[in-house]
Amino acid sequence: MSGYSVHKILEMKPLNDEVFVMCVEAESNGAPGQFYMLREPDTTDPMMGRPISISDVDGNKIYFLIQIMGEGTKLLSKKRAGDEILLMGPLGNGFTLVEGKTAMLAGTAGIAPFLYLSKQLKQKPDLYVGYRSGSYYTEEFKDTTENIYIATEDGSVGHKGYALDILDIDKYDTIYVCGPMPMVKATLKKFPDANTQVSLEAYMGCGFGACMSCLCDTIKGRKGICKVGPVFNGKELIFNE
Ligand code: FES
Repeated sequence: MSGYSVHKILEMKPLNDEVFVMCVEAESNGAPGQFYMLREPDTTDPMMGRPISISDVDGNKIYFLIQIMGEGTKLLSKKRAGDEILLMGPLGNGFTLVEGKTAMLAGTAGIAPFLYLSKQLKQKPDLYVGYRSGSYYTEEFKDTTENIYIATEDGSVGHKGYALDILDIDKYDTIYVCGPMPMVKATLKKFPDANTQVSLEAYMGCGFGACMSCLCDTIKGRKGICKVGPVFNGKELIFNE
């Protein structure tokens, strides 16, 4: 583990009140679905790093789509272009690139890892994304996806309801899933036999398997989401409720 290194923030782009894209000057050999720990340099608390998946890589720029969830991400949201940020990564195991027809199913900021994934899949995937109200970050997928399906809980954009409602599973060989845990569980419950690759969100302290704060149950035992995941075969995940 190399630890954190200092990098310059090149751009901060708010998408709405609670979601923003941070562009950091850094080379990355990360794969889609892998993540970095991001930390505000002025914090002395070593556990204030936050796991953020790679949204895109372009030359020496890494893009992170970040949702404000608590203190750590709030600190990140206050950064400005020109400021410094601490990065550690790439970490974890990302998505496996498969052949055939694929769909990416995202719940709100779960769309984060899919732009980079869509650029690397040989066959353009379809994107299904659900929001509470309104939408963001879908324009970016215009050239890298075949179809984009949007759902909102309040019906303000696209289908009124959930993205999962409009996913026709029979059209796809593999479904990539990323979003809040209730959405992940609902997906796996609805399609238990589908080939799914699921990126799990979790609170993470260290990001590399040392603090045991990010465990999940699988048919192979308890695993650290940061180290074995964050991407798991959906058929291997066990939820105890
Ligand atoms: Fe520390 Fe996963 S975040 S073990």
